[in-house]
Amino acid sequence: MSRVKVATFVYLTGLFWIWREVEGLGVNWGTMATHKMDPKTVVQMMKDNGINKVKLFDAEASTMSALAGSGIEVMIAIPNDQLALMNDYDRAKKFVQRNVTRYNFNGGVDIKYVAVGNEPYLTTYNGSFSKTTFPALRNIQNALNEAGYGDKIKATVPSNADVYGSPEDNPVPSAGRFRPDINDQMVEMVQFLAKNNAPFTVNIYPFLSLYGNDHFPVDFAFFDGSPQPVVDNGIQYTNVFDANYDTLVSALKAAGHGDMPIIVGEVGWPTDGDKNANINMAYRFYNGLLPRLTSNKGTPLRPGSIEVYLFGLIDEDAKSIAPGSFERHWGIFRYDGQPKFAMDISGRGQNALLVPAQNVRYLDKQWCEFNPDAKDLSKLGENINYACTFADCTPLGYGSSCNGLDANANASYAFNAYFQAQNQNEMACMFQGLARVTRSNISTPTCSFNIQIVGTYSSASRASIYLFVYAIVVMVLLL
Ligand SMILES: *[C@@H]1O[C@H](CO)[C@@H](O)[C@H](O)[C@H]1NC(C)=O
Ligand SMILES: *[C@@H]1O[C@H](CO)[C@@H](O)[C@H](O)[C@H]1NC(C)=O
Ligand SMILES: *[C@@H]1O[C@H](CO)[C@@H](O)[C@H](O)[C@H]1NC(C)=O
Ligand SMILES: *[C@@H]1O[C@H](CO)[C@@H](O)[C@H](O)[C@H]1NC(C)=O
Repeated sequence: MSRVKVATFVYLTGLFWIWREVEGLGVNWGTMATHKMDPKTVVQMMKDNGINKVKLFDAEASTMSALAGSGIEVMIAIPNDQLALMNDYDRAKKFVQRNVTRYNFNGGVDIKYVAVGNEPYLTTYNGSFSKTTFPALRNIQNALNEAGYGDKIKATVPSNADVYGSPEDNPVPSAGRFRPDINDQMVEMVQFLAKNNAPFTVNIYPFLSLYGNDHFPVDFAFFDGSPQPVVDNGIQYTNVFDANYDTLVSALKAAGHGDMPIIVGEVGWPTDGDKNANINMAYRFYNGLLPRLTSNKGTPLRPGSIEVYLFGLIDEDAKSIAPGSFERHWGIFRYDGQPKFAMDISGRGQNALLVPAQNVRYLDKQWCEFNPDAKDLSKLGENINYACTFADCTPLGYGSSCNGLDANANASYAFNAYFQAQNQNEMACMFQGLARVTRSNISTPTCSFNIQIVGTYSSASRASIYLFVYAIVVMVLLL
């Protein structure tokens, strides 16, 4: 190669890396935890790992200020319970003022999308949000347009993958259509998105395909197996991610917009809380997914790069477990910002543990355990139930990491989870004489008895501390 050619090659390769960085993976940052890491710590952790896109579930002020100036691209969100409010255009404008314009300054937050609702068409919601979702989307995008952000910031509705499907008698991606009961709303939404050059956002969960169905071929959930392929017009599908994505492509095509950009708003694999939720299977899933994404291969019907947000960044021990115990274990990081397994998040062939969160502070090294000297065990069940109502006991369930414990250790797990959730308050390790505090680590090789972190104060409680200190100062001055 001539020197010029080499230089051009290096230059283009450099550009390619930069471009790939920008295209890079996003993550979902949920905050339903009893103890939240400081948002600044989380933002630094993302930067340390080259993660430059994040999807939020609200636009909470402390999260937003931590993201300001970080260079990370952000999808803010409007929770489902605020969709009805956004049917009022003035409220939608106010939302844009408070949560978009407020952060639109040099060194502010790089907002790219506004998620309107979160899976509002889930069948378990019985249509509660089906009338308010589209008007909210329309108002938010119109308010963004009116404020002059229309070219840069797009509103979109992160949808669960069951808003579309293919008929039972022809279960192939090319037969994909929107669900008949919401087809009219979906078509209206797609037309509006198209008019605004906005993307369709969908959450795709191969894990849930497996969770819901014991006959689902396990290999089809991953990218490295050799399941019986699904053959569709000569295309062989060997994983459910591609098949599902292309079912959406077909549904969009049937709605007249087969080339609409698609964002995968959530995809991931949980590590506890079910027989198929563990580190090995999560490792296998990401080890197939990430190289696929960075190769920009796309799917049979949509070759090219896919914009993807992994679910999720950090475990959330206070998330609802109505869908299943696995819900609290989706993080690629534990609750304390420690990575769980090796993954190649940059797509550069470095399958390594992610960089952990820095400067995380823990509570004291003490646990709450079952008191073996307890005489009256008649109230044990009741006390365990109480602990598990207010703390996370999901690792105790069938197929989970702590399922093998004996009855006493089981009780200890529940008591400790509660004690930690209550910031190790000594009153939280009584349980009618059934529990005691210990300084020895009662973890087992498979089951981790966690020590909680020092969580951040919400701004409200911080404000009340300031007020309290102020009141004392005033009192002292008056004396
Ligand atoms: C938007 O900002 C306001 C004012 O800070 C806040 O009360 C509201 O919760 C924010 N909306 C969301 C969805 O976070
Ligand atoms: C949906 O309907 C079912 C059965 O009628 C009911 O059990 C459930 O609570 C309803 N869910 C919501 C969110 O309204
Ligand atoms: C431990 O607790 C779990 C969840 O509460 C329960 O399913 C299991 O049967 C218990 N095991 C023992 C040995 O008590
Ligand atoms: C307790 O022991 C477990 C398993 O050996 C270990 O992973 C964990 O870090 C220990 N916890 C503390 C706080 O030392």
